[in-house]
Amino acid sequence: MAEVVIVENAQAAGDLVADAILRLIGTKPDAVLGLATGSTPLPVYRALAERRGDTDLSRVSGFALDEYVGLPISHPESYRSVITREVVEPVGLTPERIHVPVGAEETIRHAGADYEAAINAAGGVDIQILGIGTDGHIGFNEPGSSFASLTRIKTLTRQTRADNARFFDSLDQVPTHSITQGLGTILRARHLVLLAFGAGKAKAIAEALEGPVSANMPASAIQLHPHVTVVIDEAAATELAHADYYRDSYENKPAWQTI
Ligand code: GLP
Repeated sequence: MAEVVIVENAQAAGDLVADAILRLIGTKPDAVLGLATGSTPLPVYRALAERRGDTDLSRVSGFALDEYVGLPISHPESYRSVITREVVEPVGLTPERIHVPVGAEETIRHAGADYEAAINAAGGVDIQILGIGTDGHIGFNEPGSSFASLTRIKTLTRQTRADNARFFDSLDQVPTHSITQGLGTILRARHLVLLAFGAGKAKAIAEALEGPVSANMPASAIQLHPHVTVVIDEAAATELAHADYYRDSYENKPAWQTI
């Protein structure tokens, strides 16, 4: 089962996950990071920038989960722009090694297959950071997504477009489609780290972790993966039936075991 770590706040989560990433890079200088957008992973990127010290990140590569279709990459809310602004520049990653699916309409027919080929050529993702949508999506895998799905186009739900409207001037400017790694792609990463903060995520977190494995709740796919760490704050943990067990397990964890 997933290891569930309930932390005091988002900053503590960021520190914990950044340290895990830096430990990985210490043993594997050409580690492949799976990068997520949204507000949730920002404390991880901030902590990475602060805590990296003189760690050599020049050989680290990264793959973003998803991108909007039809939004020019120069748009400040394209995920290419967001990943550059929030991750690549502050952390000091090598821009040429950071990949984002290409949402341009001219190449969209083969963009999914191209992205899968690039991930495979890099040797697969070592650690995949994930946020979760209020409807349980990971990446942009909306409810109903196949657990075998690979990188492809997905239509966004009304809920997701409404949630993401805060990044745009109005709801109509939110693209209707995305290109996203599939659940099958995400499940191939060697370690999944799912983060969630705030009461708005409590229901999705409880269903993903403790509910049935179902395409209706895409994040429940994590129950099929052998190495998952879920890092959440108290507010996101309120609907978990086994929160005390998760706390006991983490508090009594042997010192040699890391996340
Ligand atoms: C978007 C992204 C997801 C992200 C979700 C939650 O839809 N495609 O990868 O997990 O938003 O966003 P936030 O972390 O801002 O709540």
